[in-house]
Amino acid sequence: MGLKILGTGSYLPETVVTNDDFAKIVETSDEWIVKRTGMKERRITEQPTWVMARHAAEAAIADAGLSPEEIDLILCTTVTSDYITPSMACVIQGAIGAVNAVALDINAACAAFVYALDMAHMYLQHGYRHVLIVSAEGLSKITDYTDRSTCVLFGDAAGACVVGWSDKGFAASLGSDGTGANTLFARRPLNDVPFVEQVDPQSVDGFPDVGRAGVLYMNGREVYKFAVSAMSRALKEACEKFGTTPEQLDLIVPHQANLRIIQSAAKELGLPLERFYTNIERYGNTSSACIPVGLAELGAAGELKPGRKVGLVGFGAGLVYGGCVFEL
Ligand code: ACO
Repeated sequence: MGLKILGTGSYLPETVVTNDDFAKIVETSDEWIVKRTGMKERRITEQPTWVMARHAAEAAIADAGLSPEEIDLILCTTVTSDYITPSMACVIQGAIGAVNAVALDINAACAAFVYALDMAHMYLQHGYRHVLIVSAEGLSKITDYTDRSTCVLFGDAAGACVVGWSDKGFAASLGSDGTGANTLFARRPLNDVPFVEQVDPQSVDGFPDVGRAGVLYMNGREVYKFAVSAMSRALKEACEKFGTTPEQLDLIVPHQANLRIIQSAAKELGLPLERFYTNIERYGNTSSACIPVGLAELGAAGELKPGRKVGLVGFGAGLVYGGCVFEL
């Protein structure tokens, strides 16, 4: 049993931040950013993350030709939920009127859309008919705009997909390596709790002291190394499970963390770069939203043609990775 995309949608905030804009606030240049990352612009917003999610979700449901009441399950992926509780998925469910949907969030950073598809696939096998996956990230809310090595990388966006049952197969390969948790993280700010002695989280978890809680810290070089090998491994394994090879994939939509990572993975897989969809130059890294935003753009361009074999692959904080393969 497989899975097919019934509809896609996305939301990109209006405010565009260029590389030259960053050169005004940190010591960097358009030349450095383009050469090292492939990024030229990204979008940011002060809107709550769930508002972006709502726009993308409604677009995907309309594109699928469904009404919100026909959605059985909402999986929301995010690392920038507006609330500690309730889940973003519940907030979205209420906002769009998906009265029959079960709703829950998934936190698997930039691999989360692939994790969500794999979960959707399992739920579809148990009788759910229409699953809405909505990936929304307001990364500007957790970006340290004084740190040039991370602030130029991230943007805000939401992407969504409605998926349903298909007889054309689906295979995924997911993995996690928590020993790398300290290479990419954002620590939650502490509350001053009366009656108990304050514990320094760093003395307990051994993570690097980054001074400020609530913003992303990244050891770029370590994550880079993990990313290249995780991407090619995840795609190869997913292809093997599906009964195909990377060469036979018509289209690959990868996580958009760095164009050089995508180029290296393409080289390692022996595939032409043109097989990989990229929009990193326009939106930067929008964590779990990258892949569904890419799918929505491909859908709007008429590129999600029946019979095409698609590979999706993501990696990120955790550390986590996930690749999947299915036929449109
Ligand atoms: N402008 C100018 N110089 C910079 C900038 C900048 N924006 N950022 C870093 N530099 C400097 C560094 O300070 C360093 O200077 P030094 O040599 O004097 O110390 C020099 O550039 C080289 O730094 P590196 O970190 O080695 O640069 P690198 O080529 O590795 O590129 C980058 C950095 C782009 C972050 C890269 O390591 C990368 O893409 N890593 C992976 C990121 C990733 O995949 N993240 C995924 C998950 S994100 C998530 O989960 C939300």
